[in-house]
Amino acid sequence: MDIAIKLILWVHLMSLALAGSAAFGGPAVLALMRAADASQRAALAPVLAKLAALGRMALVLLVLTGVALIVTKLGGVSGLNPWFHTKMLLVVLMIALSVFGLMNAKKARSGDAAAAARMPMLSKVGMALLAGIVLCAVFAFN
Ligand code: HEM
Repeated sequence: MDIAIKLILWVHLMSLALAGSAAFGGPAVLALMRAADASQRAALAPVLAKLAALGRMALVLLVLTGVALIVTKLGGVSGLNPWFHTKMLLVVLMIALSVFGLMNAKKARSGDAAAAARMPMLSKVGMALLAGIVLCAVFAFN
């Protein structure tokens, strides 16, 4: 059981690495797209979509393994501190951002200029949320 719990934590942390690649890679690709011409932008667009898909996959894995850790390692949520509750609030905001980002990206792809202009701001919110979640996790669990 002990090894299983450690492996779940390993998947949790590997998913965090995946989430980080999407949260920090996305804005980098967006910055390249802003400086690119139309054909370069078209070539970079699938990279952005792939990073966003990886980020969504990471978020699903983080939630699944997070719940599994609560059940197996901590035996429930009783006694968890405010840092944990703040982390959960930020996770909910991250899920909402991810859903909104997916809808926004669809609009941007179909030519909505306002949606395209919103993307850098959304990606910065994603970076800030991820940094906040990891900070809360560190204070919550040591
Ligand atoms: C974006 C989503 C998430 C991120 C970035 C994240 C990040 C982290 C990090 C960095 C740690 C290691 C902290 C440490 O040991 O000092 C951790 C551990 C943990 N997380 Fe998450 N997490 C996320 C979602 C969740 C969710 C949704 C849950 C529960 C429903 C959860 C529950 C846990 C638990 C129980 C631990 C381990 C506690 C321990 O080792 O004693 N996490 N998380």
